[in-house]
Amino acid sequence: MITLKSEREIQTMKDSGKILSDIHVALRDFIKEGITTKQIDQFVQERIEAADAVAAQIGYEGYQFATCTSVNDEICHGFPSNRVLKEGDIVKVDFCVDLNGAISDSCWCYAIGEIIPEHERLMEVTKEALYRGIEQAKVGNRIGDIGHAIQTFVEGEGFGVVRDFIGHGIGPTIHEEPPIPHYGLKGKGLRLKEGMTLTIEPMVTTGDWKMKMDANGWTARTRDGGFCAQYEHSLAIGPEGPIILTKQENEI
Ligand code: MF3
Ligand code: CO
Repeated sequence: MITLKSEREIQTMKDSGKILSDIHVALRDFIKEGITTKQIDQFVQERIEAADAVAAQIGYEGYQFATCTSVNDEICHGFPSNRVLKEGDIVKVDFCVDLNGAISDSCWCYAIGEIIPEHERLMEVTKEALYRGIEQAKVGNRIGDIGHAIQTFVEGEGFGVVRDFIGHGIGPTIHEEPPIPHYGLKGKGLRLKEGMTLTIEPMVTTGDWKMKMDANGWTARTRDGGFCAQYEHSLAIGPEGPIILTKQENEI
């Protein structure tokens, strides 16, 4: 079932998203060579709790951490660990904030020191793909318009779009209807309505998009070992177009 949110519900999701996006802003300085992904997780959890909110991923379907910290070839759901980040790595930090029952969800990708030009381009293309998807998230458009915009752009740049994980509706729970694929056909799928709240979160790979699952049953990585980048925003379909709920200060 797709629920349409009231202005008031959307405002609380925006407040939740503000807590989340401020933490991403703080991570810009915190993430550097020599820290572990577990330190990132602790940093995020402490800040969520300091804002009197809840780290919504803990306990979600048995997941144990505040964040997913996915490094290099890991596509998503990387477990925070004692892995030390080194120059040339990229890390995707994905987490959800629950403020009074309103959940926001956003992932950002961080480079450690100097990275190779191909990976710089991967990050740029993935962020641009997110914005191109968001641009399509307006009343009257269809869900396929979002995926189509993302897929054609990414593939035109010679990169791959992950199929196994997709965006989703969001609200009082992390994953709601409808599913939002990052691939698809223009003019196909459900029509977008005012009051829908959803995530767009393309995962883009340097090589093939096919994934393999780690033995932990959660962490997905590219089969060919290529790097993967991801950027995610939560948004609401407003009367005048998309409203980004997790927008960061000085985002671009
Ligand atoms: N933040 C993830 C998303 O973008 C959800 C992670 S599910 C969890 O959909 F179990 F890992 F928390
Ligand atoms: Co997320």
